Amino acid sequence: MTERTFSIIKPDATRRNLTGAINAVIEAAGLRIVAQRRVKLTDAQAKTFYEVHAERPFYGELVGQMTAEPVVVQVLEGDNAMAKYREVMGATNPKDAAEGTIRKLFALSIGENSVHGSDSLENAAIEIAQFFKAEDIVG
Ligand code: CMP
Repeated sequence: MTERTFSIIKPDATRRNLTGAINAVIEAAGLRIVAQRRVKLTDAQAKTFYEVHAERPFYGELVGQMTAEPVVVQVLEGDNAMAKYREVMGATNPKDAAEGTIRKLFALSIGENSVHGSDSLENAAIEIAQFFKAEDIVG
């Protein structure tokens, strides 16, 4: 089934000029980038986005990293897009990520792990709506 999922290319990757390299992996996997914008997240935006992690010990560091430099927010479309993108990203901790995945190729650490992808279709819809209007997504 054709789905849409939400992606963020994180500051550790934009800082190293890896937006195109990561997009190439995304597109090679058959996912289409149907919306994309480079943005510097505000503290409030990052806190809202990662609210589910508010009680975790790494929350402050995570918000700090996500607001330090620009990110690229994206909507990815394709067959089974949510699960497929999680496969393409690889495990959260790059030490556990499979060969050929974005995190294996590019991530620096569990915190600076280059990309975010929605973990359910329900969250994908919520995350997409946080950054894109319907008319800005062109499939
Ligand atoms: P992401 O998929 O964006 O969701 C939450 C982020 O928190 C995660 O990727 C990591 O970048 C970051 N993070 C930092 N430390 C941890 C940790 N110990 N466990 C899980 N996520 C972590």
